[in-house]
Amino acid sequence: GFDAGARFAVGSGVAPMEDYFAGIEPIRYAGPDSRDPLSYRYYQPERVVAGKTMAEHFRFSVAYWHTFRGTGLDPFGLPTLVRPWDDGSDSLDNALRRMRVAFDFIGRLGLGFYCFHDRDVAPEGATLTETNRNLDRVAALAGKLQADTGIRLLWGTANLFSHPRYMNGAATNPDAHVFAHAAAQVKKAMEVTHRLGGANYVFWGGREGYATLANTDMKREQDHLARFLQMAADYGRELGFTGTLLIEPKPKEPTTHQYDFDAAAVLAFLRGYGLADQFKLNVECNHATLAGHTFAHELQTAADAGLLGSIDANTGDPLIGWDTDQFNLDLATTSAVMLIVLRQGGIAPGGFNFDAKLRRESIDLRDMFAAHVGSIDAFARGLLIAERILADGTLDAWRRERYASYDSGIGAQVERGAVGFGELERWVLQAGAPQPASGRQEQFENLIASYY
Ligand code: XUL
Ligand code: CO
Repeated sequence: GFDAGARFAVGSGVAPMEDYFAGIEPIRYAGPDSRDPLSYRYYQPERVVAGKTMAEHFRFSVAYWHTFRGTGLDPFGLPTLVRPWDDGSDSLDNALRRMRVAFDFIGRLGLGFYCFHDRDVAPEGATLTETNRNLDRVAALAGKLQADTGIRLLWGTANLFSHPRYMNGAATNPDAHVFAHAAAQVKKAMEVTHRLGGANYVFWGGREGYATLANTDMKREQDHLARFLQMAADYGRELGFTGTLLIEPKPKEPTTHQYDFDAAAVLAFLRGYGLADQFKLNVECNHATLAGHTFAHELQTAADAGLLGSIDANTGDPLIGWDTDQFNLDLATTSAVMLIVLRQGGIAPGGFNFDAKLRRESIDLRDMFAAHVGSIDAFARGLLIAERILADGTLDAWRRERYASYDSGIGAQVERGAVGFGELERWVLQAGAPQPASGRQEQFENLIASYY
Protein backbone atom coordinates (compact mmCIF):
# COMPACT_ATOMS: atom_id res chain seq x y z
CA GLY A 1 0.00 0.00 0.00
CA PHE A 2 0.95 3.61 -0.23
CA ASP A 3 1.09 6.07 2.61
CA ALA A 4 0.87 9.61 1.30
CA GLY A 5 2.83 10.80 4.31
CA ALA A 6 5.77 8.60 3.38
CA ARG A 7 7.17 10.98 0.85
CA PHE A 8 7.75 13.56 3.53
CA ALA A 9 9.05 11.14 6.12
CA VAL A 10 12.47 10.62 4.61
CA GLY A 11 15.25 13.10 4.81
CA SER A 12 18.16 14.22 6.84
CA GLY A 13 17.72 17.92 7.29
CA VAL A 14 16.40 18.25 3.72
CA ALA A 15 13.24 20.30 3.30
CA PRO A 16 10.07 18.31 2.59
CA MET A 17 9.75 17.46 -1.05
CA GLU A 18 7.47 19.49 -3.24
CA ASP A 19 4.37 17.51 -4.21
CA TYR A 20 5.15 17.16 -7.91
CA PHE A 21 2.22 14.81 -8.49
CA ALA A 22 -0.34 17.00 -6.76
CA GLY A 23 -3.78 16.20 -8.10
CA ILE A 24 -2.85 12.65 -9.04
CA GLU A 25 -4.44 10.27 -6.56
CA PRO A 26 -2.84 6.91 -5.78
CA ILE A 27 -4.00 4.52 -8.51
CA ARG A 28 -6.90 2.36 -7.38
CA TYR A 29 -8.82 -0.57 -8.81
CA ALA A 30 -12.06 0.73 -10.33
CA GLY A 31 -13.25 -2.30 -12.31
CA PRO A 32 -13.40 -3.16 -16.03
CA ASP A 33 -15.97 -0.50 -16.86
CA SER A 34 -13.86 2.39 -15.59
CA ARG A 35 -12.94 4.98 -18.21
CA ASP A 36 -10.52 6.75 -15.88
CA PRO A 37 -7.06 6.30 -17.47
CA LEU A 38 -5.51 6.52 -13.99
CA SER A 39 -7.40 3.56 -12.53
CA TYR A 40 -6.77 -0.17 -12.68
CA ARG A 41 -9.45 -2.07 -14.54
CA TYR A 42 -8.09 -5.56 -13.88
CA TYR A 43 -5.06 -5.33 -11.58
CA GLN A 44 -6.00 -5.96 -7.95
CA PRO A 45 -2.75 -6.47 -6.04
CA GLU A 46 -4.41 -8.43 -3.22
CA ARG A 47 -6.66 -10.60 -5.41
CA VAL A 48 -5.70 -14.26 -5.22
CA VAL A 49 -5.42 -16.03 -8.58
CA ALA A 50 -4.08 -19.60 -8.88
CA GLY A 51 -2.96 -19.63 -5.27
CA LYS A 52 -1.07 -16.31 -5.15
CA THR A 53 -1.93 -12.64 -5.06
CA MET A 54 -1.56 -10.70 -8.29
CA ALA A 55 1.20 -8.67 -6.63
CA GLU A 56 3.09 -11.90 -5.85
CA HIS A 57 2.62 -13.25 -9.38
CA PHE A 58 4.08 -10.19 -11.06
CA ARG A 59 6.44 -8.37 -8.71
CA PHE A 60 6.06 -5.39 -11.10
CA SER A 61 9.01 -3.05 -11.25
CA VAL A 62 9.54 0.48 -12.59
CA ALA A 63 12.67 0.94 -14.72
CA TYR A 64 14.56 3.94 -13.40
CA TRP A 65 16.41 4.61 -16.66
CA HIS A 66 13.28 5.07 -18.74
CA THR A 67 10.84 6.57 -16.30
CA PHE A 68 13.26 8.84 -14.44
CA ARG A 69 16.12 9.40 -16.90
CA GLY A 70 14.31 9.23 -20.23
CA THR A 71 14.16 12.65 -21.85
CA GLY A 72 12.56 11.94 -25.21
CA LEU A 73 15.83 12.82 -26.93
CA ASP A 74 16.12 11.18 -30.35
CA PRO A 75 18.65 11.49 -33.18
CA PHE A 76 16.52 14.26 -34.72
CA GLY A 77 15.27 16.19 -31.75
CA LEU A 78 16.03 17.62 -28.35
CA PRO A 79 14.53 16.42 -25.07
CA THR A 80 10.77 16.82 -24.82
CA LEU A 81 10.14 15.18 -21.43
CA VAL A 82 11.14 18.09 -19.19
CA ARG A 83 10.33 17.23 -15.57
CA PRO A 84 9.67 19.85 -12.89
CA TRP A 85 11.90 18.06 -10.35
CA ASP A 86 14.84 17.69 -12.71
CA ASP A 87 17.09 20.73 -13.22
CA GLY A 88 18.94 18.95 -16.04
CA SER A 89 22.22 19.05 -14.14
CA ASP A 90 24.48 16.15 -13.20
CA SER A 91 24.54 17.26 -9.57
CA LEU A 92 24.14 15.01 -6.59
CA ASP A 93 21.26 17.18 -5.34
CA ASN A 94 19.38 16.58 -8.55
CA ALA A 95 20.04 12.84 -8.27
CA LEU A 96 18.76 12.76 -4.69
CA ARG A 97 15.62 14.73 -5.53
CA ARG A 98 14.89 12.45 -8.47
CA MET A 99 15.18 9.41 -6.19
CA ARG A 100 12.57 10.80 -3.81
CA VAL A 101 10.19 11.49 -6.70
CA ALA A 102 10.75 7.97 -8.04
CA PHE A 103 9.64 6.40 -4.76
CA ASP A 104 6.65 8.72 -4.63
CA PHE A 105 5.72 7.65 -8.18
CA ILE A 106 6.13 3.89 -7.55
CA GLY A 107 4.13 4.20 -4.33
CA ARG A 108 1.27 6.01 -6.05
CA LEU A 109 1.14 3.20 -8.63
CA GLY A 110 0.96 0.75 -5.72
CA LEU A 111 3.92 -1.26 -7.04
CA GLY A 112 6.57 -3.02 -5.00
CA PHE A 113 9.83 -2.86 -6.98
CA TYR A 114 12.26 -0.78 -9.03
CA CYS A 115 15.39 -1.50 -11.10
CA PHE A 116 18.35 0.72 -11.90
CA HIS A 117 21.75 1.00 -13.56
CA ASP A 118 24.42 2.60 -11.36
CA ARG A 119 24.67 5.61 -13.69
CA ASP A 120 20.89 6.14 -13.75
CA VAL A 121 20.81 6.97 -10.08
CA ALA A 122 24.17 8.64 -9.40
CA PRO A 123 26.40 10.88 -11.51
CA GLU A 124 29.81 9.79 -12.74
CA GLY A 125 32.59 11.66 -10.91
CA ALA A 126 36.04 12.73 -12.10
CA THR A 127 37.61 9.56 -10.68
CA LEU A 128 36.39 6.07 -9.81
CA THR A 129 36.63 7.00 -6.13
CA GLU A 130 34.40 10.04 -6.60
CA THR A 131 31.98 8.06 -8.76
CA ASN A 132 31.70 5.39 -6.07
CA ARG A 133 31.18 8.03 -3.38
CA ASN A 134 28.30 9.52 -5.41
CA LEU A 135 26.72 6.10 -5.73
CA ASP A 136 27.04 5.48 -2.00
CA ARG A 137 25.32 8.80 -1.24
CA VAL A 138 22.33 8.07 -3.47
CA ALA A 139 22.16 4.43 -2.34
CA ALA A 140 21.97 5.58 1.28
CA LEU A 141 18.88 7.63 0.44
CA ALA A 142 17.42 4.75 -1.61
CA GLY A 143 17.90 2.47 1.39
CA LYS A 144 16.00 4.89 3.65
CA LEU A 145 13.21 5.30 1.11
CA GLN A 146 12.95 1.51 0.73
CA ALA A 147 12.64 1.12 4.50
CA ASP A 148 9.99 3.86 4.71
CA THR A 149 7.84 2.69 1.81
CA GLY A 150 8.41 -1.07 1.61
CA ILE A 151 9.38 -0.70 -2.05
CA ARG A 152 12.23 -3.09 -2.89
CA LEU A 153 14.99 -3.45 -5.45
CA LEU A 154 14.16 -6.13 -8.03
CA TRP A 155 17.59 -5.83 -9.60
CA GLY A 156 20.58 -3.60 -10.03
CA THR A 157 22.99 -3.43 -12.94
CA ALA A 158 25.95 -1.44 -14.21
CA ASN A 159 25.87 0.83 -17.23
CA LEU A 160 28.87 -0.41 -19.24
CA PHE A 161 27.83 1.18 -22.51
CA SER A 162 27.21 4.96 -22.28
CA HIS A 163 30.66 6.25 -21.40
CA PRO A 164 33.12 6.60 -24.34
CA ARG A 165 35.62 4.34 -22.54
CA TYR A 166 33.27 1.45 -23.34
CA MET A 167 32.76 2.24 -27.02
CA ASN A 168 34.62 -0.96 -28.03
CA GLY A 169 32.90 -3.02 -25.34
CA ALA A 170 33.47 -3.63 -21.65
CA ALA A 171 34.33 -7.27 -20.81
CA THR A 172 34.96 -7.84 -24.54
CA ASN A 173 37.05 -4.70 -25.05
CA PRO A 174 40.36 -5.42 -26.81
CA ASP A 175 42.06 -3.27 -24.12
CA ALA A 176 42.58 -5.11 -20.80
CA HIS A 177 42.59 -1.75 -19.01
CA VAL A 178 38.95 -1.23 -20.00
CA PHE A 179 38.15 -4.83 -18.95
CA ALA A 180 39.61 -4.01 -15.52
CA HIS A 181 37.62 -0.78 -15.28
CA ALA A 182 34.42 -2.60 -16.12
CA ALA A 183 35.22 -5.18 -13.44
CA ALA A 184 35.75 -2.44 -10.85
CA GLN A 185 32.45 -0.83 -11.84
CA VAL A 186 30.48 -4.08 -11.66
CA LYS A 187 32.11 -4.90 -8.31
CA LYS A 188 30.73 -1.67 -6.91
CA ALA A 189 27.30 -2.08 -8.52
CA MET A 190 27.04 -5.59 -7.05
CA GLU A 191 28.00 -4.30 -3.61
CA VAL A 192 25.33 -1.58 -3.75
CA THR A 193 22.71 -4.02 -5.08
CA HIS A 194 23.55 -6.40 -2.24
CA ARG A 195 23.43 -3.63 0.37
CA LEU A 196 19.97 -2.60 -0.88
CA GLY A 197 18.71 -6.17 -0.65
CA GLY A 198 18.41 -6.53 -4.44
CA ALA A 199 16.66 -9.78 -5.37
CA ASN A 200 18.70 -10.17 -8.58
CA TYR A 201 21.63 -8.66 -10.46
CA VAL A 202 21.46 -8.24 -14.27
CA PHE A 203 24.06 -8.34 -17.02
CA TRP A 204 22.85 -6.94 -20.30
CA GLY A 205 25.76 -7.00 -22.77
CA GLY A 206 25.55 -3.33 -23.74
CA ARG A 207 28.40 -3.23 -26.27
CA GLU A 208 29.56 -6.83 -25.91
CA GLY A 209 29.60 -7.70 -29.60
CA TYR A 210 31.19 -6.41 -32.78
CA ALA A 211 30.66 -4.63 -36.08
CA THR A 212 33.27 -6.34 -38.29
CA LEU A 213 35.43 -9.47 -38.04
CA ALA A 214 38.14 -7.48 -39.84
CA ASN A 215 39.24 -6.05 -36.48
CA THR A 216 37.71 -8.59 -34.08
CA ASP A 217 38.99 -11.79 -32.50
CA MET A 218 35.57 -13.18 -31.62
CA LYS A 219 36.88 -16.29 -29.85
CA ARG A 220 39.13 -14.25 -27.56
CA GLU A 221 36.38 -11.71 -26.79
CA GLN A 222 33.93 -14.45 -25.82
CA ASP A 223 36.59 -16.13 -23.64
CA HIS A 224 37.03 -12.76 -21.89
CA LEU A 225 33.28 -12.36 -21.39
CA ALA A 226 33.13 -15.80 -19.77
CA ARG A 227 36.08 -14.93 -17.50
CA PHE A 228 34.32 -11.70 -16.51
CA LEU A 229 31.07 -13.48 -15.66
CA GLN A 230 32.90 -16.12 -13.62
CA MET A 231 34.65 -13.33 -11.67
CA ALA A 232 31.25 -11.71 -11.05
CA ALA A 233 29.76 -14.98 -9.80
CA ASP A 234 32.80 -15.50 -7.54
CA TYR A 235 32.51 -11.98 -6.18
CA GLY A 236 28.79 -12.41 -5.55
CA ARG A 237 29.56 -15.43 -3.38
CA GLU A 238 32.30 -13.47 -1.58
CA LEU A 239 29.75 -10.74 -0.81
CA GLY A 240 27.19 -13.24 0.42
CA PHE A 241 24.80 -12.14 -2.33
CA THR A 242 22.13 -14.82 -2.62
CA GLY A 243 20.09 -13.18 -5.39
CA THR A 244 19.99 -14.55 -8.93
CA LEU A 245 22.55 -13.43 -11.51
CA LEU A 246 20.74 -12.84 -14.78
CA ILE A 247 21.88 -12.44 -18.38
CA GLU A 248 19.59 -10.49 -20.71
CA PRO A 249 19.81 -11.59 -24.36
CA LYS A 250 19.60 -9.08 -27.22
CA PRO A 251 20.57 -9.76 -30.85
CA LYS A 252 21.71 -6.35 -32.08
CA GLU A 253 21.81 -2.67 -31.19
CA PRO A 254 24.11 -1.11 -30.22
CA THR A 255 26.53 -3.53 -31.94
CA THR A 256 25.71 -5.32 -35.18
CA HIS A 257 26.37 -8.76 -33.67
CA GLN A 258 25.63 -8.91 -29.94
CA TYR A 259 27.19 -12.03 -28.37
CA ASP A 260 24.12 -12.68 -26.20
CA PHE A 261 21.98 -12.89 -29.36
CA ASP A 262 18.98 -14.79 -27.99
CA ALA A 263 18.06 -17.27 -25.26
CA ALA A 264 19.45 -20.22 -27.22
CA ALA A 265 22.79 -18.47 -27.81
CA VAL A 266 23.05 -17.49 -24.14
CA LEU A 267 22.23 -21.04 -23.01
CA ALA A 268 24.90 -22.46 -25.33
CA PHE A 269 27.40 -19.88 -24.07
CA LEU A 270 26.64 -20.58 -20.40
CA ARG A 271 26.83 -24.35 -20.91
CA GLY A 272 29.96 -24.15 -23.05
CA TYR A 273 31.82 -22.18 -20.40
CA GLY A 274 30.47 -24.07 -17.39
CA LEU A 275 28.37 -21.13 -16.16
CA ALA A 276 24.86 -22.58 -16.46
CA ASP A 277 24.53 -23.33 -12.76
CA GLN A 278 25.43 -19.74 -11.82
CA PHE A 279 23.31 -17.61 -14.15
CA LYS A 280 19.71 -17.47 -15.33
CA LEU A 281 18.06 -15.35 -18.02
CA ASN A 282 16.19 -12.07 -17.98
CA VAL A 283 14.04 -12.23 -21.11
CA GLU A 284 12.79 -9.05 -22.81
CA CYS A 285 9.98 -8.99 -25.37
CA ASN A 286 11.46 -6.34 -27.66
CA HIS A 287 14.79 -8.20 -27.75
CA ALA A 288 12.95 -11.42 -28.64
CA THR A 289 11.25 -9.84 -31.63
CA LEU A 290 14.50 -8.17 -32.78
CA ALA A 291 15.96 -11.69 -32.84
CA GLY A 292 13.10 -12.87 -35.09
CA HIS A 293 11.36 -14.75 -32.28
CA THR A 294 8.17 -14.26 -30.33
CA PHE A 295 8.36 -13.29 -26.67
CA ALA A 296 6.85 -16.68 -25.82
CA HIS A 297 9.51 -18.55 -27.81
CA GLU A 298 12.30 -16.89 -25.85
CA LEU A 299 10.56 -17.43 -22.51
CA GLN A 300 9.83 -21.09 -23.29
CA THR A 301 13.43 -21.68 -24.40
CA ALA A 302 14.71 -20.31 -21.08
CA ALA A 303 12.00 -22.06 -19.04
CA ASP A 304 12.67 -25.46 -20.67
CA ALA A 305 16.28 -25.16 -19.51
CA GLY A 306 15.08 -24.30 -15.99
CA LEU A 307 16.74 -20.91 -16.40
CA LEU A 308 13.91 -18.39 -16.82
CA GLY A 309 14.74 -15.96 -14.04
CA SER A 310 13.02 -12.64 -14.76
CA ILE A 311 11.18 -10.68 -17.43
CA ASP A 312 11.58 -7.26 -19.05
CA ALA A 313 7.97 -6.51 -19.92
CA ASN A 314 7.71 -4.34 -23.02
CA THR A 315 7.15 -4.64 -26.76
CA GLY A 316 8.52 -3.31 -30.02
CA ASP A 317 6.63 -1.80 -32.90
CA PRO A 318 6.03 -4.50 -35.54
CA LEU A 319 6.72 -1.94 -38.27
CA ILE A 320 10.00 -0.66 -36.86
CA GLY A 321 13.21 -2.67 -36.71
CA TRP A 322 14.75 -1.35 -33.52
CA ASP A 323 14.27 -1.37 -29.79
CA THR A 324 11.29 0.97 -29.27
CA ASP A 325 10.60 -0.27 -25.70
CA GLN A 326 6.84 0.33 -25.67
CA PHE A 327 4.33 -0.67 -23.02
CA ASN A 328 2.81 -4.02 -23.99
CA LEU A 329 -0.99 -4.09 -24.37
CA ASP A 330 -1.35 -7.25 -26.44
CA LEU A 331 -3.50 -9.87 -24.69
CA ALA A 332 -2.36 -12.68 -26.99
CA THR A 333 1.19 -11.99 -25.84
CA THR A 334 0.52 -11.36 -22.16
CA SER A 335 -1.62 -14.51 -21.82
CA ALA A 336 1.03 -16.61 -23.59
CA VAL A 337 3.65 -15.16 -21.22
CA MET A 338 1.55 -15.92 -18.16
CA LEU A 339 0.89 -19.46 -19.33
CA ILE A 340 4.64 -20.09 -19.37
CA VAL A 341 5.18 -18.39 -16.03
CA LEU A 342 2.33 -20.30 -14.34
CA ARG A 343 3.52 -23.60 -15.81
CA GLN A 344 6.99 -23.07 -14.35
CA GLY A 345 5.51 -22.24 -10.94
CA GLY A 346 6.11 -18.47 -10.93
CA ILE A 347 8.81 -15.92 -11.65
CA ALA A 348 10.03 -15.02 -8.12
CA PRO A 349 12.63 -14.01 -7.10
CA GLY A 350 12.50 -12.41 -10.53
CA GLY A 351 9.65 -10.16 -11.57
CA PHE A 352 8.14 -8.11 -14.37
CA ASN A 353 10.24 -5.03 -14.98
CA PHE A 354 8.72 -2.38 -17.25
CA ASP A 355 11.72 -1.79 -19.48
CA ALA A 356 9.42 0.53 -21.40
CA LYS A 357 9.31 4.22 -22.11
CA LEU A 358 6.89 6.93 -22.98
CA ARG A 359 6.75 8.21 -26.53
CA ARG A 360 8.55 11.54 -26.76
CA GLU A 361 5.24 13.26 -27.50
CA SER A 362 3.69 11.99 -24.22
CA ILE A 363 4.88 14.89 -22.14
CA ASP A 364 2.35 15.06 -19.28
CA LEU A 365 3.10 13.64 -15.85
CA ARG A 366 -0.22 11.80 -16.06
CA ASP A 367 1.17 9.90 -19.08
CA MET A 368 3.84 8.36 -16.82
CA PHE A 369 1.08 6.79 -14.74
CA ALA A 370 -1.29 5.89 -17.57
CA ALA A 371 1.45 4.06 -19.48
CA HIS A 372 2.22 1.76 -16.56
CA VAL A 373 -1.44 1.32 -15.64
CA GLY A 374 -2.38 0.13 -19.15
CA SER A 375 0.33 -2.51 -19.36
CA ILE A 376 -0.18 -3.67 -15.78
CA ASP A 377 -3.83 -4.28 -16.67
CA ALA A 378 -2.84 -6.13 -19.86
CA PHE A 379 -0.64 -8.48 -17.81
CA ALA A 380 -3.35 -8.89 -15.17
CA ARG A 381 -5.79 -9.91 -17.90
CA GLY A 382 -3.12 -12.22 -19.32
CA LEU A 383 -2.88 -13.88 -15.92
CA LEU A 384 -6.64 -14.34 -15.66
CA ILE A 385 -6.78 -15.83 -19.16
CA ALA A 386 -3.85 -18.17 -18.52
CA GLU A 387 -5.37 -19.28 -15.23
CA ARG A 388 -8.63 -20.17 -17.01
CA ILE A 389 -6.76 -22.09 -19.72
CA LEU A 390 -4.90 -24.16 -17.13
CA ALA A 391 -7.89 -24.69 -14.84
CA ASP A 392 -10.02 -25.86 -17.76
CA GLY A 393 -7.30 -28.26 -18.92
CA THR A 394 -8.54 -28.71 -22.50
CA LEU A 395 -5.44 -27.15 -24.08
CA ASP A 396 -3.05 -29.33 -22.09
CA ALA A 397 -5.16 -32.42 -22.82
CA TRP A 398 -5.13 -31.70 -26.55
CA ARG A 399 -1.39 -31.13 -26.53
CA ARG A 400 -0.72 -34.32 -24.54
CA GLU A 401 -2.89 -36.21 -27.00
CA ARG A 402 -0.64 -35.09 -29.89
CA TYR A 403 2.29 -36.87 -28.24
CA ALA A 404 0.35 -39.86 -26.87
CA SER A 405 2.26 -42.31 -29.11
CA TYR A 406 5.28 -41.74 -26.85
CA ASP A 407 3.36 -42.71 -23.71
CA SER A 408 3.48 -46.44 -24.39
CA GLY A 409 4.79 -49.02 -26.85
CA ILE A 410 7.56 -48.10 -29.24
CA GLY A 411 7.40 -44.37 -28.37
CA ALA A 412 7.98 -45.05 -24.68
CA GLN A 413 10.92 -47.26 -25.63
CA VAL A 414 12.37 -44.37 -27.67
CA GLU A 415 12.04 -41.98 -24.74
CA ARG A 416 13.60 -44.53 -22.36
CA GLY A 417 16.54 -45.01 -24.71
CA ALA A 418 15.69 -48.71 -24.91
CA VAL A 419 15.82 -49.00 -28.72
CA GLY A 420 18.18 -48.03 -31.57
CA PHE A 421 17.89 -47.73 -35.35
CA GLY A 422 18.00 -51.51 -35.77
CA GLU A 423 15.00 -52.16 -33.49
CA LEU A 424 13.07 -49.25 -35.02
CA GLU A 425 13.66 -50.59 -38.53
CA ARG A 426 12.38 -54.02 -37.50
CA TRP A 427 9.36 -52.42 -35.80
CA VAL A 428 8.44 -50.36 -38.88
CA LEU A 429 8.79 -53.39 -41.17
CA GLN A 430 6.08 -55.00 -39.03
CA ALA A 431 3.89 -51.97 -38.28
CA GLY A 432 3.81 -50.55 -41.81
CA ALA A 433 3.55 -46.88 -42.84
CA PRO A 434 2.50 -44.16 -40.32
CA GLN A 435 -0.77 -42.32 -40.94
CA PRO A 436 -0.44 -38.50 -41.22
CA ALA A 437 -2.20 -36.69 -38.32
CA SER A 438 -3.54 -33.13 -38.47
CA GLY A 439 -1.60 -30.48 -36.53
CA ARG A 440 -4.97 -28.75 -35.89
CA GLN A 441 -3.22 -25.38 -35.52
CA GLU A 442 -6.43 -23.41 -36.12
CA GLN A 443 -8.32 -25.49 -33.56
CA PHE A 444 -5.60 -24.94 -30.96
CA GLU A 445 -5.43 -21.22 -31.67
CA ASN A 446 -9.21 -20.87 -31.64
CA LEU A 447 -9.33 -22.68 -28.31
CA ILE A 448 -6.82 -20.24 -26.78
CA ALA A 449 -8.71 -17.26 -28.24
CA SER A 450 -11.94 -18.53 -26.67
CA TYR A 451 -10.56 -17.67 -23.21
CA TYR A 452 -9.81 -14.00 -24.04
C1 XUL B 1 18.66 -2.41 -23.37
C2 XUL B 1 18.04 -2.99 -22.18
C3 XUL B 1 18.64 -2.59 -20.89
C4 XUL B 1 18.70 -3.68 -19.88
C5 XUL B 1 19.44 -3.28 -18.64
O1 XUL B 1 18.05 -2.76 -24.57
O2 XUL B 1 17.08 -3.72 -22.25
O3 XUL B 1 17.94 -1.50 -20.42
O4 XUL B 1 17.42 -4.08 -19.50
O5 XUL B 1 20.74 -2.89 -18.89
CO1 CO C 1 15.90 -4.72 -20.81
